[in-house]
Amino acid sequence: MSGRLAIVGLGPGAPGLLAPDAAEALAAATDLVGYETYLARVAPRPEQRRHGSDNREELERARLALRLAAEGRRVAVVSSGDAGVFAMAAAVFEAVDQGEPAWRRLDIEVIPGITAMLAAAARVGAPLGHDFCCLSLSDNLKPWPVVLQRLEAAASADFVLALYNPISQARPWQLGQALQRLAAILPATTPVVFATAVSRPEERIEIVPLAEAAQAAADMRTVILVGSSQTRLLERGDGRRWVYTPRSCAGVPA
Ligand SMILES: C[S@@+](CC[C@H](N)C(=O)[O-])C[C@H]1O[C@@H](n2cnc3c(N)ncnc32)[C@H](O)[C@@H]1O
Repeated sequence: MSGRLAIVGLGPGAPGLLAPDAAEALAAATDLVGYETYLARVAPRPEQRRHGSDNREELERARLALRLAAEGRRVAVVSSGDAGVFAMAAAVFEAVDQGEPAWRRLDIEVIPGITAMLAAAARVGAPLGHDFCCLSLSDNLKPWPVVLQRLEAAASADFVLALYNPISQARPWQLGQALQRLAAILPATTPVVFATAVSRPEERIEIVPLAEAAQAAADMRTVILVGSSQTRLLERGDGRRWVYTPRSCAGVPA
């Protein structure tokens, strides 16, 4: 089979945060497949075909990409951030797993991108400097009790937390409940970073103690970082603050 399928992470938004290999794969593609909003971030090329779809149709989008590649096209499937983090790479492999035997012989490559939590962490300092745990708060693809169980386990184990998909129109109350559960486990002073639309023109960064963390600070473009017992705030000369988690950890907190 001569077709190729590149699964490409576009990074958090700024063109400078797109990996050179990702740019190369996008330029080489005959067909681009992805959620409309993400496709809009790729500069148009007249010779390329675009196959945009709704955000909820991941498996169908993956099958389309595989069918096109099986016809001999050079296909790029795009995701924001990194395609392997709550995104299209897993959907493509799920489709291969359940699909045509011939799809297993396709030339499939995953091209990494800068995921939202790394872009957000870099904006405020180094909050992910020691052990951390990354969770999606969405209950679209797993039951809400599972989300809460994992959140409480990670907070109890004193990981720094990176929380993706915190809120949406269809999930308006879940973040409030998640913050309440965290407040019952962690000190009120725990630093919380709400990082919205990082590296895009509308970027907004807010650093608050957990006691003041409210779901109004988040929207669909926000990743939330919650500190561990070791995470510290550091005053900068200009009145702003860095957030960092030291490289070493002395012992298990009481
Ligand atoms: C479906 S997930 C996709 C994650 C993406 N694959 C990644 O690696 O960043 C969408 C979530 O990623 C986070 N996100 C994506 N881009 C972001 C950005 N530029 N700034 C902050 N959070 C972002 C938000 O939590 C959003 O709800």
